[in-house]
Amino acid sequence: MPFEYLPLPGTPVEELDTPALVIDMAVAEANINKLQKWADRNKMGVRPHAKTHKTPLFAHKQLAAGAIGICCAKVGEAEVMVAGGVREILIANQVVGPTKIARLMALAGDANITVAVDDTSNVKELSQAASATGREIGVIVEVDTGMHRCGVEPGAPTRKLARLITSSPGLRFDGVMGYEGHVVARRDLEERKTEATASAKMLVDAADDLRKAGLPVKVVSAAGTGTYNITGTVKGITDLQCGSYIFMDGDYLEVFKDFSSALTVLATVISRPVTGRAVTDTGIKAISVDRGLPKVVGIEGAKVVGLSEEHGRLEVTGAAEKLKVGDKIRLLPMHGDTTINLYSHYACVRDGKLEAMVEIAGRGRSR
Ligand SMILES: Cc1ncc(COP(=O)(O)O)c(C=O)c1O
Repeated sequence: MPFEYLPLPGTPVEELDTPALVIDMAVAEANINKLQKWADRNKMGVRPHAKTHKTPLFAHKQLAAGAIGICCAKVGEAEVMVAGGVREILIANQVVGPTKIARLMALAGDANITVAVDDTSNVKELSQAASATGREIGVIVEVDTGMHRCGVEPGAPTRKLARLITSSPGLRFDGVMGYEGHVVARRDLEERKTEATASAKMLVDAADDLRKAGLPVKVVSAAGTGTYNITGTVKGITDLQCGSYIFMDGDYLEVFKDFSSALTVLATVISRPVTGRAVTDTGIKAISVDRGLPKVVGIEGAKVVGLSEEHGRLEVTGAAEKLKVGDKIRLLPMHGDTTINLYSHYACVRDGKLEAMVEIAGRGRSR
C-alpha cells in the first residue's frame, strides 16, 4: 500500500503538490449563506444536493446556515452522510432492487430517510422491506416536469402512485418532487424563467390535484442552482434542491454570477517543449471534460486546448509565454461534480493557506 502524504495546515496554496482540488472556504461559505438568505427572505426551504460536494463537512455547513435537510443521489452517498452525522436526507432518485433497499432500511434506523419513486413495483418492494424491518421511510412521487428523465406524468399516474404509497405499510407519503434539469443551465434568462416557471407550476398543480383527492402533500421539492430564484418564487414550492451553487463551476459561471467560483484545480507546468506550448500535469484523470475544457484562471494568453490522460496542453501567447517548468497555475473545471469525484481530498484553503485536507468520503459512491 503506497503512502499518501498530506500537507499540513498553514501550507501556502502555491506550495501544495499537484494536481490539487482547491476550495476557497470563504467563497464556499458565502455561497451557502447567499442561497440561504435568499430562501429565508422568500420563505423557502433549502435542501441542498450533496451530490456536488459528497462530503459531510459541507453538508453540516449548509445545515448550520439553515438548510432543512440534504439531498443525495445514491444510497452510497446517503451512507456517508449518515455516518457523518446528517439526520435528514432525501434521496432525490429511485432506489431499486433488494440490495440497495436493504441498505436504505439500515439507514432509516439512524436518520429520517425519504426516497423518490416513479413506479408501482418499486413502491411494493420498498413497502415489503419496510414492513420486514419494522422501519418507516418517507416516499415522494417524482413527477416529470419536462426533463424527460425519471418521473411520472402529473394527474392520474401521480395520483395512482400517491394512493398506493398511502396504503402501503411502512411507507409515509410525504409529497412530490420534480427536477427541471433541462433548463437549469439555459443561458438565456427569459427562456430559463419561462420554462422553469412552467415546470414548477406543473409540479404545484400536481400537488394541488393530490390534495383535492384527499392526499395530504407536505413536500413540493424542485430546482437546481440556475433556477433557484425562478422556481423558488413559484407559490406552492416548499424547498430547493440546488447543489452546484456551493462551489460553482465554469459551466454555471456562464449562466450567471449569482454565486462565485470556489473550486479550482491547481496544476504544475511540467514541460515547455516549444514556443507557444505549455504542458501541465492535469489530464482527464484530474479534471473532467464532459462539459468542455477547463479554463486557465488569471493568466492572459493561456488557453487549454487539449487534455490526454495525465497531461493538459496549453496554447500560450503574450504574457503567458513567461510560464516556465515548475510554475503552478489554476484551472477552472467546466463541471465541478464530475471533477470532484476524481479526488480523494479537498485542499480547503483560507486566505491563501491550507486550512485542512478534507476527505471526499462520498467520492466514487455511485452504488
Ligand atoms: C434531482 C436533482 N435535484 C437537484 C439537482 C441540483 O442541480 P444543480 O447542481 O444544478 O444545482 C440535481 C442535479 O443533477 C438533480 O439531479
